[in-house]
Amino acid sequence: MKIAILGYGTVGSGVFEIVRSNPEGIARRAGKEIEIKYVLDLRDFPGNPVEEVLVHDFAQIVDDPEVSVIVEVMGGVEPAYSFVKEALLKGKSVCTSNKELVAKHGAELLEIAKQKKENFLFEASVGGGIPIIRPLNQSLTVDEIQEVTGILNGTTNYILTKMRDEGADFADVLADAQARGYAERNPSADVDGYDAGRKIAILTSLAYGMQVDYEDIYTEGITKITKEDIAYANAVGANIKLFGTSKTVDGKVYAMVAPCMIGRDHPLYVVDDVFNAVLVRGNFLGDVMFYGKGAGKLPTASAVVSDVVDAVKHQGVNVMTIWNSRKLELADINTLQSSFFVRVPAAEKEKAKSLFAVDQEVTAEGIAGEYAFFTKPMAEGDFQGAAAKTKVLSRIRVEGTTKKWRNMI
Ligand code: HSE
Repeated sequence: MKIAILGYGTVGSGVFEIVRSNPEGIARRAGKEIEIKYVLDLRDFPGNPVEEVLVHDFAQIVDDPEVSVIVEVMGGVEPAYSFVKEALLKGKSVCTSNKELVAKHGAELLEIAKQKKENFLFEASVGGGIPIIRPLNQSLTVDEIQEVTGILNGTTNYILTKMRDEGADFADVLADAQARGYAERNPSADVDGYDAGRKIAILTSLAYGMQVDYEDIYTEGITKITKEDIAYANAVGANIKLFGTSKTVDGKVYAMVAPCMIGRDHPLYVVDDVFNAVLVRGNFLGDVMFYGKGAGKLPTASAVVSDVVDAVKHQGVNVMTIWNSRKLELADINTLQSSFFVRVPAAEKEKAKSLFAVDQEVTAEGIAGEYAFFTKPMAEGDFQGAAAKTKVLSRIRVEGTTKKWRNMI
């Protein structure tokens, strides 16, 4: 079985390495030997083994009837979208790690693959090496999914973990994450939450079988999280994590990306460093959690190659069944109930107490001149209204029962 790889960057070179280093193991699982016939890249790689199969023209690949499966790991919407669409229309299966492409055109590309009885697979687009797309598509088929909450971005999880453990500054840790190959070329995609937004859009589309546009998802990153916030979280035994979440409440679907304060009683509390995890709640199943490396060359490439094996095994049979292009209308997050961690200047204490239903006051060693507290659950819109009447230094949404946390340290 001949395949081609579009893009010889971090993930593409990982796919090349895995396929070349374990041919027998892959052949055993796929039922056929897999050979990389072409790698497409604009660049040359003198002295690299990829040279033997390197081409610069996509037409050479897509017009070759011997190529049955195309791996798209270029990233970005164009030209990836045009290439993938053409490949599917010509009856080839496509495996991609490209979350921008999947979030924007997933429903359409799945429909073409279905018509052509081939496959459009994208396991690596969410959670790097973690199997989550295949379980949502093939295993969790009985339950109604009530909630999907994930730590979906390795870079921001790495940054938050280092800030907590080393008291390190945001900018230094970001540079370190970039050097390790975790971060996106444009760090804003990670730290402003857009990468997690695309991933939760994909998971929500799969969970509900309808199109969720990431532009409709309220998205907040981690750039406003300060050392002081982390000191308060440490004081109560909590962690701050960037969550991508979607859930059904009273028949309405809410979706959001935002930092969240959680205690040890939350299943995602232990997910540190570059690890990702996705918690799925089904109506019969209850909670299941998927955990693993969400970024990096080989974990991501491993998920791509698992798709290649699936595509080879299912030639002529379309396996991805859910997610149509009908748009899912998300509920207005202003009506969503949350508790909040809030910091105001000490001078605003009495005003804050009159504006918010304070559930618990918090202090942290070495921080003076401010008043910090947890609110009782309140609607997001009511929070915004109250916050506008005082000077809020920071606020972070909270999941769980804060009063329990201190006893769990
Ligand atoms: N920049 C992404 C992350 C890469 O840090 O999770 C994987 O999608």
